[in-house]
Amino acid sequence: MVDEQVQVELLNKSGYSDRAINYFINKVNVGEIESPSASFSYTGPCGDTMQVQLKIDSGRITEARFQAIGCAGSYSAGSALMKIIKGKTLEQAEEISEEQILDHLGNIPPQKIHCVCLAKRTLEQTIKQYKRVRGKG
Ligand code: FES
Repeated sequence: MVDEQVQVELLNKSGYSDRAINYFINKVNVGEIESPSASFSYTGPCGDTMQVQLKIDSGRITEARFQAIGCAGSYSAGSALMKIIKGKTLEQAEEISEEQILDHLGNIPPQKIHCVCLAKRTLEQTIKQYKRVRGKG
């Protein structure tokens, strides 16, 4: 296991912002929700998988967590996206763009932009499945 300080330095050199590094190291919004309203796993073209779980109350996201088998990019993007969507309606959450996630993070290496896409797609699929199950989509 790489020492945390070394990890931070390496991520910094690779082009991750302090915020993105903090999200990855501290696993912000990572975990499971007890009795989630929606839960879905999605595997991206890179082969990495993310699972998003949401608690939804009257069409609004009250809790959002994720787990990933993926890279630092996927963790920082997942953390950012869960943070952004908390308190938003499902429709507002569906409209969050990759640019908004990247703006929130500040900086991640250009080669990791597709990891932001993994987070966005997983959320989209989670909401889609939730609506499908409830007969609203
Ligand atoms: Fe697959 Fe980052 S390389 S999510």
